[in-house]
Amino acid sequence: MHKDLSPVETAKYVAAKRAVDFVQSGMKLGLGTGSTAAWMVRCLAARVQAEGLKIIGVPTSTRTADLAKELGLTITTLDQAKWLDLTIDGADEFDQSFNLIKGGGAALLQEKIVAAASDQMIVITDAAKEVANLGAFPLPVEVIRFGWTTTQVLIEEMLLSQDVFARDVTLRIAKDGPVLTDEGNYILDLHLKRIGQPQRLALALNQIPGVVENGLFINLCDRVIIGHTDGRVVVRDNHDGSIKTSKVSVAPLGNIFADLGE
Ligand code: 5RP
Repeated sequence: MHKDLSPVETAKYVAAKRAVDFVQSGMKLGLGTGSTAAWMVRCLAARVQAEGLKIIGVPTSTRTADLAKELGLTITTLDQAKWLDLTIDGADEFDQSFNLIKGGGAALLQEKIVAAASDQMIVITDAAKEVANLGAFPLPVEVIRFGWTTTQVLIEEMLLSQDVFARDVTLRIAKDGPVLTDEGNYILDLHLKRIGQPQRLALALNQIPGVVENGLFINLCDRVIIGHTDGRVVVRDNHDGSIKTSKVSVAPLGNIFADLGE
């Protein structure tokens, strides 16, 4: 393990570093958000610098855009890029069916739009985020500010007919008030403990006026790359069912450890 990295950061780093092996010159890439995705952006920048790789990135948040710019990556908007070869992003939870909960970093809307506009989505994660059933992590739902308390009531009523274990809904609050997404919306966190039918819930949520998008990513993820604290990395493929394990070195890539911003 690198001396500056905690076990969990090591796991995130090795997953990110392995994911960047799937990047080829000429690709248009979706750049995810969060601490694991930030490792991916750093590893990508190191490969661009070392190998002269030509890639264009579409960031999924202002945070990721700032980091990519700082590291000298070429970025553009999804409207310019239109369609992407590959998106690499983190997740808050994943299950054996490659379904995800995302949005812990409040970027789920742009993340889902970008993932849906990509030929492939790779999720990078540490092993602790694997669950038998989604829902221990509160499900983030992005809602319009106008009438958000009414939207909350509609969500609570809808949850009564869903296969979930608990039904608490809270507005996400930061130090200075409600968390605002990059699109200027609020986040409601749904504390459900266990989601029996994620696809049914995702469809029901998006039918409620005021809901912009929910953090359930269903049928979007093609591969999960799971990092372990000892440097082992497991790549699970959703299409051919393969599971491949390798070891990733935690040796410094250029000055990659110089700026541990997130
Ligand atoms: C942001 C996300 C992140 O991918 C998710 O929260 C995981 O974050 P981290 O890699 O920091 O654990 O969905 O909206």
